[in-house]
Amino acid sequence: LPDEVTTPAGATTAPVLGDMAPEEFRRWAQEVVDWMADYLAGVGELPVLPGVVPGELRSVLPSSAPERGEDFGRILSDYRNLVVPAVTHWNHPAFFAYFATTGSAPGILGEMLAAALNVNAMVWKSSPAATELEEVVTDWVRELVGLPGAFEGVINDTASSSSLYALAAAREAGLPEAREEGLANAPRCRVYASAEAHSSIDKAVITLGLGRAGTRRVATDRAFRMDTEALRRAVEEDVRSGVRPLAVVATVGTTSTTSVDPVDLVADVAAENGMWLHVDAAYAGPAACLPELRHHFAGWERADSVVLNPHKWLFTPVDCSILFCRRPEMLRGAFSLTPEYLRTSEQGEARNLMDYGVALGRRFRALKLWFVLRWFGVEGVRARLREHVRLAREVAAWVEAEDGWDLVAPVPFSTVVLRRVPAGSDPEAQDRMNADILERVNRSGGAFLSHTVLGGRVSIRLAVGNLRTTGEHVRTAWELLRNAAAEVDGGAG
Ligand SMILES: Cc1ncc(COP(=O)(O)O)c(C=O)c1O
Repeated sequence: LPDEVTTPAGATTAPVLGDMAPEEFRRWAQEVVDWMADYLAGVGELPVLPGVVPGELRSVLPSSAPERGEDFGRILSDYRNLVVPAVTHWNHPAFFAYFATTGSAPGILGEMLAAALNVNAMVWKSSPAATELEEVVTDWVRELVGLPGAFEGVINDTASSSSLYALAAAREAGLPEAREEGLANAPRCRVYASAEAHSSIDKAVITLGLGRAGTRRVATDRAFRMDTEALRRAVEEDVRSGVRPLAVVATVGTTSTTSVDPVDLVADVAAENGMWLHVDAAYAGPAACLPELRHHFAGWERADSVVLNPHKWLFTPVDCSILFCRRPEMLRGAFSLTPEYLRTSEQGEARNLMDYGVALGRRFRALKLWFVLRWFGVEGVRARLREHVRLAREVAAWVEAEDGWDLVAPVPFSTVVLRRVPAGSDPEAQDRMNADILERVNRSGGAFLSHTVLGGRVSIRLAVGNLRTTGEHVRTAWELLRNAAAEVDGGAG
């Protein structure tokens, strides 16, 4: 990437008062956009992980802000020469760690315009456009993934926030006195989730004042899906001992293996016990737009709330998480609090987004998602998701066909979990080998994968989700894994 920045003629440092002059902004904006286009075109040539150690970037940056404003050309040079080399490239086509994502071009353009408008969608009046576009675009996504019209969508920063708000609504529904009285005299309440559910559920339950013991983890079967008989027994046991079951979280696409809880059966247990059903489909949710994958979502239409993240597998730059709620009055019941200074003449007539979560101020996130959906279109989204699923299945087939490797979990979506298991080695040695293989692949800069632990054993995860990922990138990643395994087998240091 070019690292030369030429200061345009007439550029100045900041004036005594006011902002950068519009003409100077225009020139720098063009320079920045050129950089972005070059970056997106060439990101695949960069190492996915930067070769930096903790503290390295801090050590080359001043410890205080400059007393006098600096020339923007210098600032941009430092961005290119100091900041970018310390970046882990999530937009890299060989980024296969965690859940791979894409900040797509239309999404980036939406972010830029949202930054320029800088609206704060606290109440309808403070941003009619952001409020109503959020309604339109979440409705589009709802329809795309086949959820019924009864679900109302709001956009939050992350799935962690969305699940926190969903469980706050569950507390409002199941323990309405908590809002006024707190929990001091409340019965012990419980939220159920599988052993494979995301840690954001425990965090939400802690945040809601129910403590770590407020979450009860339910055993999973051999395919890492919630055992609904174990759920039923856990709820019955709790009820017998005076615990109030508030909610159950079913996950469609768990973090470690993308396993799918049997949502329909979970919904039965929720209905039998008057519990709120929250479905965490943060990663896999967008895949419900594919008719051939829709069966994985059977029963989620019975949920009280569903979270899915366009910033994971719907090509939208972070952050963008949609919380769909069938009982939005419970969300408002949990969060609505209108001081005089936020009262407007449209009270009751329009939606005020501050009523749906903790944050008063909210970014205009709907704009980038609107751009993404319009530019790719439903057909384009489907084609790209399908290709990711195809690539993952290809990797899974290679793993299954190769001696000394195991496919650790089924591949319902675009994530493959694999483990090196050479004949004659014991499980502890295999754990060390897998960690070593992963370290070697990631150090190479050619691909970035992550790990998980299942049943106490280390496995390697390869998640396909970037728009630039092709068959060549997954082949290279598989070759890197095989080569690293051969080095480890050979005792290479
Ligand atoms: C199933 C699931 N839920 C929730 C989350 C948390 O997502 P976020 O980073 O948006 O809070 C993740 C993150 O990977 C996830 O896999």
